Amino acid sequence: MKISIIGTGYVGLVTGACFADIGHEVVCIDTNQEKIDLLIEGILPFHENGLEEMIMRNTLSKNLKFSSSYSTAAENEIFFICVDTPNDQLGKPDLANLNNVIDSLLQSINKNSLVVIKSTVPLGTIGMIQEIFDNFLQDLNFEVEVCSNPEFLREGNAISDFLQPDRIVVGANSTNAIKKLRKIYAPLKIKEKSFFSMSIESSELTKYASNCFLATKISFMNEISQIADSANANIHEIKEAMGADKRIGDLFLNSGIGFGGSCFPKDLEALVSSQKQFNLKNGILKKVIDVNKNQLDFFIDKIMLVLKKRNLSKINIAIWGTSFKPNTDDMRESPAIKLIKKISSHANKLFIFDPVCSSERIKKELIEINNANIVEEKYQATQFSDALIICTEWKEFAELDYTKLSNTIVFDGRNMLDKNSLEQSGISYYGIGT
Ligand code: UDX
Repeated sequence: MKISIIGTGYVGLVTGACFADIGHEVVCIDTNQEKIDLLIEGILPFHENGLEEMIMRNTLSKNLKFSSSYSTAAENEIFFICVDTPNDQLGKPDLANLNNVIDSLLQSINKNSLVVIKSTVPLGTIGMIQEIFDNFLQDLNFEVEVCSNPEFLREGNAISDFLQPDRIVVGANSTNAIKKLRKIYAPLKIKEKSFFSMSIESSELTKYASNCFLATKISFMNEISQIADSANANIHEIKEAMGADKRIGDLFLNSGIGFGGSCFPKDLEALVSSQKQFNLKNGILKKVIDVNKNQLDFFIDKIMLVLKKRNLSKINIAIWGTSFKPNTDDMRESPAIKLIKKISSHANKLFIFDPVCSSERIKKELIEINNANIVEEKYQATQFSDALIICTEWKEFAELDYTKLSNTIVFDGRNMLDKNSLEQSGISYYGIGT
């Protein structure tokens, strides 16, 4: 089928490339001509495992094209809107990008079409978009149906999450839209019981509820890790035994300095904002946000207390990891960046290493601090430091040459190292509840 993808960010590029890879003819649209020119050359604006090769393959086979022209997009009858809806200062999603796309589509669509909203949008938004199309097109002889198809892609695993989804969710008012989405996703050959069709409102809330539940699991474990820290219990033993209960499940139980990224924080704020809009009292969701912030402060306080007890002040500190999670160069809402900004005034020099984030982008994130030194190899960071803080759970940080860490105090913000083996090598180790 011929599909137009509007927006070439994390979701739009993965969706467009995967649709092309499973046999559809796809054009990805972005009004940023410079971005389109780079994409035509195969240059991506971000790191995502396997995406560059997939885009190259499908561009060569002419299944995948890039354009800044909405009239090119309007040659097709199916539009997936994948623009980002970042939060504004009040925690409400900023719909400027989405509104611009809607305006452009109103000017360019010229036949019966299906507009699929893949962007995460506030509850009730899709119904309003349908009204805008209905009003604008009421005197014309064609119709545009708007439906919901939220994404559940994890950065770093986005392609596998798209091609082997746990479920596909479609919110629509007509069986025609549902039939079309079934046809589009048919090549994935997912089980019937994994295809969920529902009302548009339920689909919008399913997305938020899923993300906020995952974030709740993380904040729950972080709260338990703080108790474990004081009760001299071991959060790893607790996590293993909890995860063995299939009702709990063993994923998203890793404690550490908390969650970041462009989704969990934004989606939690959006639902809390919806609660306010509906005059509902805040409950768990607000607490999940508070615990996440508190967890980072808890860990920083622990670091400062340990250094104080050792009469270590204004020392050189190594930082491993600046992205919000491994396998991505995304630093949006990264707990690592927040931690660096909070401890920089207590340190002499900071030596910072990340496996994929470029030093230019790290410097841009840390523009207001003047003692950050970005290094190209992890041991260059620890070589001149008295303490190491691990902030992102990159796999390579678990593969340690202990001889290169002697005389270094290790603060493990992701509870990812084995305390006993480090201490047996004479290295002081501090996690959270370990
Ligand atoms: C998330 C959802 O997983 C995905 O389904 C949705 O479509 C988009 O948002 P993403 O934000 O890419 O994906 O990252 P994810 O892998 O979910 O991790 C989010 C944050 O939680 C990261 O900062 C990660 O470090 C943290 N995390 C994750 C934990 O602290 N503990 C865990 O056990 C898992």
